[in-house]
Amino acid sequence: MTRIDRALNGAAVSDGTSPGDRHPLVPALLAQVLAALIAGGLALLLVPVMFSQPLLLATLQGVLALLIAWRLGAPIWWLPIHLCFLPLAVMARGMALPGWVWGGGFMLLLLVFWRTDKSRVPLYLTNRRSRDALQLQLPAGPCRVIDLGCGDGAVLRQLAAARPDCRFVGIEHAPLTWAWAWLRARGQCNLSIRCGDFWTHSLAGYDLVYAFLSPAAMPTLGIKARTEMSPCARLVSNSFPIPGQVALDVIDVADARKTRFYTYDCGRSL
Ligand SMILES: C[S@@+](CC[C@H](N)C(=O)[O-])C[C@H]1O[C@@H](n2cnc3c(N)ncnc32)[C@H](O)[C@@H]1O
Repeated sequence: MTRIDRALNGAAVSDGTSPGDRHPLVPALLAQVLAALIAGGLALLLVPVMFSQPLLLATLQGVLALLIAWRLGAPIWWLPIHLCFLPLAVMARGMALPGWVWGGGFMLLLLVFWRTDKSRVPLYLTNRRSRDALQLQLPAGPCRVIDLGCGDGAVLRQLAAARPDCRFVGIEHAPLTWAWAWLRARGQCNLSIRCGDFWTHSLAGYDLVYAFLSPAAMPTLGIKARTEMSPCARLVSNSFPIPGQVALDVIDVADARKTRFYTYDCGRSL
């Protein structure tokens, strides 16, 4: 088993996140279930009338879930989700929507976001200014470029149109997102959009690797890049540095969200 396989299977890597960090749904579920048990118990013992007020009971559960999640060290953005989850579910139930709406909504989210719970890399897109800044990072001569998790493919469509002398590959695992990127790439013969898991795709042979992922993915990406990329190749990470590695260059993009590119030269800085 390689270091990359071990890291992907959840074993701790030297500079990586702990396995506990990799499964945020477990503490989230724990907080929700514990809060439901405590809220139910409190209502039963102290105010049984609450059972006829589902929204009130759900609100109590939400507050308790928030507190438990906070004690368990959940990231701050999980807290409003814990607070609102059950109250919103109770309110939605009151709308008496047909069952297929819930099933359809779930399927749509699944097809666009796929296994974000596992990959911990959701869909958000590189903006126009960042795409322009990335274009400036392309080597002067013909080269091969890959976008790891290419989303809607907009980054690669722009680069492929601007640089017909280069070849571009995008890999995306979310079925609907991939289908969209693939359809929109038809007609650009220097661009190939593939459906699959980029962790199983070798980075050898690429001159520039572009990644816009999440902090959770960066330790393993650092290992993968070190292991597979050629010494003269370059990794450009949008927004997320590789922990423990000094970037060769940090580029500030002049956009509203103050995007930063961290660039790594595989022969020197990785
Ligand atoms: C933050 S988005 C970036 C999209 C695009 N690269 C951009 O910059 O506009 C990350 C994308 O990576 C995809 N993704 C996450 N893990 C993946 C994996 N293991 N293999 C392929 N795609 C993945 C997600 O579905 C998502 O579309």
